[in-house]
Amino acid sequence: MHKIVVRGGRRLVGEVRVGGSKNAALPILFGGIVTGDVCVFTELPRVSDVLRALEILRCLGARICFLSGGAVRVDYSTVRSACPPAYLCSGIRGSTYLLGAMLTRFGRAVLPGAGGCDLGERPIDQHLLGFAGLGATARTVGESVTVEASLPLVGCEIALAMPSVGATANLMIAAAAAHGKTVIRNAAAEPHVAALADFLCAAGAQIEGVGTSCITVTGVPALHGVHHRIIPDMIEAGTYLCLGAACGGPVRVCAVCPEHLAALCDLLLQMGVRIEQGKDYVTASAPDGYCCANATTGPYPAFPTDLHPQLTALFAVADRNGEGSVTETVFSSRFRYAEELRRMGADVSVKGNTVKVTPKKLRAATLRAPDLRGGAALLIAALATNGKSEITNAAQIARGYEHLEQKLRGIGADVCIY
Ligand code: UD1
Repeated sequence: MHKIVVRGGRRLVGEVRVGGSKNAALPILFGGIVTGDVCVFTELPRVSDVLRALEILRCLGARICFLSGGAVRVDYSTVRSACPPAYLCSGIRGSTYLLGAMLTRFGRAVLPGAGGCDLGERPIDQHLLGFAGLGATARTVGESVTVEASLPLVGCEIALAMPSVGATANLMIAAAAAHGKTVIRNAAAEPHVAALADFLCAAGAQIEGVGTSCITVTGVPALHGVHHRIIPDMIEAGTYLCLGAACGGPVRVCAVCPEHLAALCDLLLQMGVRIEQGKDYVTASAPDGYCCANATTGPYPAFPTDLHPQLTALFAVADRNGEGSVTETVFSSRFRYAEELRRMGADVSVKGNTVKVTPKKLRAATLRAPDLRGGAALLIAALATNGKSEITNAAQIARGYEHLEQKLRGIGADVCIY
């Protein structure tokens, strides 16, 4: 997927079935290493970040089989202690989860570099402090990190400096097979952290306090294989809800957990967007238009940083007057999409960690996806704007949106993906 050509300005109407969560799938796929057994995953999204994670596992010796009906079987018994290829690890942020998983299984983990979106500094100091608490030593040479410990790791108390999703997940994975109790304070409460805990517990781990800021992991000598269903992707769902609002709707996202979308739905309601919710669906429509609002991103249950760019795009194409703003508190440099929106004539200005938006009629343009969610934001703006826009570097968007062309066409979008 290199380029998306959009003929925008059409009203989008229909239903989108949301796939499994990328950010839940990655820690679970790598966390599976601790089981040393066979796991079968359903609803594993076929997005490039997940395919890359499977490729990393394959390089480490895992046997992967795509089953009929869409399930994926991973045999972790053949994983060996080795250094995975740098070119694969540096493509995805989730490769950091190899550290916790390989450390607790083999006493040694090497990560030749981790990638993901360029959102400013993304240190892993909290992961490493936690591993040190569990008895490991870390060595960093350039991009490469090696952590080593004699097994078993020993449970400890860790207070994270911030509720980091990555550090919470990595330490839960490492502590699952440690000796004794590990307490993670200031833990992240994101649904994908809870999903990892559900997976580990089904595999025999003992984890309490999930969804609160204090998670306790009581280590067990061994985990075992499980069948696991990946939770719905709240960011994919949120992106289509923004699209429903920007392009009139109604757009219904189904097979979702509405409670994961509460912060977005509250904000959309404030903006005058109509929201209808059922047990496993949410519908957004804006037949009479909508106005901007002010949002601040933060750790769950606050407004998710991964929906910040899409929200800015939604503000930029609002049809009622009045300024809006998004204040970003999680990642310092999540504004690279703003310059691209300006190519469409958008009135967006970034000062410090806040982007201010005054809605305007935009014009079609050629744009470059700066990162995954920034690319999704451009797609929303292009679909809401009359004329032919092109989005290059679309591989960024493919990292997180499954069956994008099919889903967009299903709600009436005129898009071609090359
Ligand atoms: C994960 C998600 C990403 C999402 C983010 C926040 C994956 C693969 N990625 O990223 O899509 O935007 O959660 O919901 O799941 N930090 C440190 N030191 C650390 C760890 C984090 O300073 O050791 C900082 C980060 O730079 C950032 C903040 O803490 O400013 C939050 O990061 P974190 O929650 O860890 O995000 P990721 O796990 O990288």
